[in-house]
Amino acid sequence: MSDQTTAIELFDQEPSTFTGDLLVYLVEEGHMQAAGFGAGGNRLLTKVQETGDFKGEKDQIFLLYPGLMTLDAQQTIAARKVLFVGLGKPDETANGRRERLRLAGGVIAKQAGAVKVKKVLVVLPGEYPLDTVEIAGCLSEGLLLGNYRFDLHKQAKDDDAPVRVERFFLHDGGLAAGAVREGLELGRILAEATCAARDMANQPGNCWTPAEFAEYAKKLGKKSRLTCTVFDKASLQKLRMGGILGVNQGSAQPPFLVILEYKRNKKRPTILLVGKGLTFDSGGISAKPPAGMEDMKCDMCGGAAVLAAMQAIAEIGVPGVNVVALVPATENLSGSAALKPGDVICHYGGKTAEIINTDAEGRLILADALAYGIKTYKPQAVIDVATLTGAVIIGLGHHYTGLLANNDQWAEQLIEAGARVGEPLWRLPLGPEYRKQIDSRIADMKNVGSDRSGGTIVAACYLQEFVGQTPWAHLDIAGTAWGFTEKSYIPKGPSGIGVRTLVDCLRQWRPIQSVDKNR
Ligand code: BES
Ligand code: ZN
Ligand code: ZN
Repeated sequence: MSDQTTAIELFDQEPSTFTGDLLVYLVEEGHMQAAGFGAGGNRLLTKVQETGDFKGEKDQIFLLYPGLMTLDAQQTIAARKVLFVGLGKPDETANGRRERLRLAGGVIAKQAGAVKVKKVLVVLPGEYPLDTVEIAGCLSEGLLLGNYRFDLHKQAKDDDAPVRVERFFLHDGGLAAGAVREGLELGRILAEATCAARDMANQPGNCWTPAEFAEYAKKLGKKSRLTCTVFDKASLQKLRMGGILGVNQGSAQPPFLVILEYKRNKKRPTILLVGKGLTFDSGGISAKPPAGMEDMKCDMCGGAAVLAAMQAIAEIGVPGVNVVALVPATENLSGSAALKPGDVICHYGGKTAEIINTDAEGRLILADALAYGIKTYKPQAVIDVATLTGAVIIGLGHHYTGLLANNDQWAEQLIEAGARVGEPLWRLPLGPEYRKQIDSRIADMKNVGSDRSGGTIVAACYLQEFVGQTPWAHLDIAGTAWGFTEKSYIPKGPSGIGVRTLVDCLRQWRPIQSVDKNR
């Protein structure tokens, strides 16, 4: 959308011959070597070390301008600038080592932006204790995610603003080039999808409307061998999706239910993804306070994550499963026909709900999509992703996504995926004692509890009503979709969270054996 994808490719000559702007080496603490740097370069590295200013500590950087000094006569470095980036001491866990490379990638992108360079060669750390595909993958992710900018709506370029890198090159650093190429492609696809989700969220509500979700999915379907179906308002009415239609009542923008199917083999089990696509949440009649309301354009981050994950899945492929993604998309506004406190709605499938607070709208649109998706596609397992409750920010801050699930094995698979990709999840309980909080006198349930206690769990209990016994996991990303833990490769604003977790989880999918009850 912002048409800013950054190229990344393999560089198969001696790094010293790279004539681009910046040559980068990743150096582990206490392990000062730089593959492919040549004798002159290594002597330079020794000199760098002797300055005492660079030890290879985490995120430490050291920038040199070789053209400004006399180097070893036989071994000159063609690049205009050379950057050393510290990796610190190797982390104990593989997940820690993965994250370290992503962070280093982000540091490189930031530093490259600060010194305004366009072409950057990064030499891979040849002895880093991780599989080669992963070394190249994590580093590429960090580089491209760290290089992200959103300036679609900015008119003039400020000369002092950091520029974006146009092209990254990776040198294998002595590692197998085939595996490096594979990792580079994986990292590129995941980063591009994540940046696509960030773009959708950065777009203001008047630009990214429910119709935009439908358009994006249709284009993706054509481009990527995904089957796309879009239900418009009339179809939603025929299907009696009272949740989506009810929330949409106060808006002039028509609602859509967007469906993308990745199906490569009929015999494979299906996994259902559902993402909240609320393109602007004013709270409706139960209006939100004005301060900070502009950030509620991000209430579609779950839908963005799910569509972007499908984009990556179509490119990478997932071996074991078929995947169906549903995005219910609407605004929540307070036009004269808007849903009112006290109204009763009827969801797809017949369950009714008394509306107490029109700001608790996410659960209403997700309920229809979950019920419809489970009935239609009979999935083995379901994941929904939603900026669902402010309460999750009170509980977990901006550092962990809230996870609620009716199945331990499924929850575990998601926790593992999140840990692998640097998007941690923290599980919260479910249970009848929380479900009781949404008992209604006049309908099957009400849309909020009688008080604010356990808000994230109570919201999940509402969704649980629509999943039956199907293994289901709910990701409440209200705290992490916007303002996620500050890191070199995570910008301020939308993080694109969920995309990499979903793809990783599906790629590593293991059949779920047991069905846990009453969780
Ligand atoms: N979209 C909000 C949740 C949210 C809050 C997302 C902060 C991102 C940042 C959701 O629709 C909402 O308004 N939830 C209410 C529920 C309440 C009325 C029970 C909330 O959390 O206050
Ligand atoms: Zn709301
Ligand atoms: Zn909302």
